[in-house]
Amino acid sequence: MTSTPQHAFHGGASFDAIGSDFADLARRHSIVDADVLDAWYDPAPGVLETLRENLPWLVKTSPPTHGDGLRAAIAQRHGLSTQNVILGGGTSALMYLTFPRIVRPGDTVAILDPMYGEYRHLFEHVLGARVVGCELAEARGFRPDPAAIAAKVRESGASLLVLVNPNSPTGVVLDSAELRQLLAGLPATTRVWIDETYIDFVPFVPTAEPFVVSDARLIIAKSMSKFFALSGLRVGYLCADAKLIAELEPWNPPWSAGLLAQCAAVRALQEYEWYRERAAETQAVRDEVAAAIDAIPGLRTFPSVTNFLLFATERVPAAELVQRCRDQGVFVRDCGSLSPRFGARFVRTAIKTREQNQRIVSALAAASR
Ligand SMILES: Cc1ncc(COP(=O)(O)O)c(C=O)c1O
Repeated sequence: MTSTPQHAFHGGASFDAIGSDFADLARRHSIVDADVLDAWYDPAPGVLETLRENLPWLVKTSPPTHGDGLRAAIAQRHGLSTQNVILGGGTSALMYLTFPRIVRPGDTVAILDPMYGEYRHLFEHVLGARVVGCELAEARGFRPDPAAIAAKVRESGASLLVLVNPNSPTGVVLDSAELRQLLAGLPATTRVWIDETYIDFVPFVPTAEPFVVSDARLIIAKSMSKFFALSGLRVGYLCADAKLIAELEPWNPPWSAGLLAQCAAVRALQEYEWYRERAAETQAVRDEVAAAIDAIPGLRTFPSVTNFLLFATERVPAAELVQRCRDQGVFVRDCGSLSPRFGARFVRTAIKTREQNQRIVSALAAASR
């Protein structure tokens, strides 16, 4: 009998090599942690300067209790009110705050398949919901089909649809027209959670945040971990209809985002254009990495608009390939755990610095021989 896992599996195996006791942090220089999707660049210079200048105070001081300044900064960007925004210590904390309040045991929840693994875990193993996967076809490069997803939601009677847009591990985005088509095909009562962790990397698709005022079904989840390079600080937010936010807010503990996190996030939003330049670099570098991986016999990348690449391994099983890379200090992600349909053929790598990308490509070339 297999027991129910307490936690979803994520990458992060690179901390086995660094040591989670932090005894020798210099070890981080010897490995390439491309199994998680953290930014390859540091936070914007203006962010780091503020943190450096005020570090002891930021560390020892209690933050604004419910992050009102950061909430106002987030709301203003897209003409929302602070009543449309709730903050958390990363979107992960907000998933665990929100879903127990809107999903009951036995409810049907639709997700994409494959998709970021925390959602299936939370719905199936923690909340006891029935999960329906909207299968994305390899033959379509895992492009979501809005009409097929809407049909699946209607047929299954799902009360909630969760999308990751652009999706992980596939790196494919639904554009605004496709999203509108999908929303138009869904029942008026189905809530739609759109996880936009990677949307700011995409030059041609704007965030859906502004739509929450005209469509009360929408909940937009925004991690500030990846694009804003703040993973270690833990800060994320939801934008939604004010009524839902008002229902969630009493359950949000005080100081749910730390002072370092709140302060860095406010400064990072002011530096948005600097981050967009990094995103443009990411696009260019990713295409170089894709070409280099495609040149390795037995490996084949899928088109991506994000800071990561999914590829199929035709000769060496994914787990073996990942282990052989790990033996060379390069951590990439075996995607087997991200979908029951994925089998042993899919691997994902983050896009890192040019030097690290070369190490990734060399390790993959040696591992796939
Ligand atoms: C799609 C997606 N959503 C959410 C998260 C978690 O983000 P946070 O750091 O805000 O908890 C991740 C982290 O990898 C992710 O890939």
